Amino acid sequence: MDQNITYYDENASGFYARTKDTDLSWEYDAFVKVLPPSRRVLDAGCGVGRDLLPLAQRGCDVSAFDASQEMVTLAREAAPTVTVTQMSFQDLTANARYDGIWAQLSLIHVPYEETRAVFEKIHACLTDGGIFYATYKYGDSSMASKGRIFWNMTQVTILPYLEGLFEVISLSVVPDTRSRVSPSESAKILQVLVRKL
Ligand SMILES: C[S@@+](CC[C@H](N)C(=O)[O-])C[C@H]1O[C@@H](n2cnc3c(N)ncnc32)[C@H](O)[C@@H]1O
Repeated sequence: MDQNITYYDENASGFYARTKDTDLSWEYDAFVKVLPPSRRVLDAGCGVGRDLLPLAQRGCDVSAFDASQEMVTLAREAAPTVTVTQMSFQDLTANARYDGIWAQLSLIHVPYEETRAVFEKIHACLTDGGIFYATYKYGDSSMASKGRIFWNMTQVTILPYLEGLFEVISLSVVPDTRSRVSPSESAKILQVLVRKL
């Protein structure tokens, strides 16, 4: 199994304790504001499911998936009304269509050589004008840390993966307020908000 997924399976309860109180209110608001009206949303790599109810409370019809079975179990407990599936980004098919795909620090574990193909799958799963929101740890190279591999992005390195698929709404760099779980205390986050072309 992918070493990242093994890490999340083995550290699910600790990850829950460290991240469950992260306040992403303004990120939810910024995402929901640009969604097409029907607001059907997929949380891709939902982890412990922290974002499921806040998105539902903002009028979204939410479903979710994660590759880690332990994370899926915790997400189902966090949001019993939401359908949470165990699967990976690489398994995405366009059987269902979404107005928005939310990928909060989850695509960071997709290797660069697989990122374009995953973005193409995300594009295919979106309705016309659908919104894709992803966050990455900021940087222009991959890094290994404590059992995980992170594939970082900057406003420049992300562009070839988006080209021809999405128009950029905003690319923002913000301090990593979750620095307790980051490899570096000075880490920054890249926020990618784009619309399907
Ligand atoms: C840093 S956690 C973020 C979780 C959650 N989105 C959050 O913000 O707390 C990364 C998540 O991505 C999931 N993940 C990693 N690789 C994946 C893959 N290939 N397909 C689906 N999920 C994956 C992990 O299991 C983990 O739950």
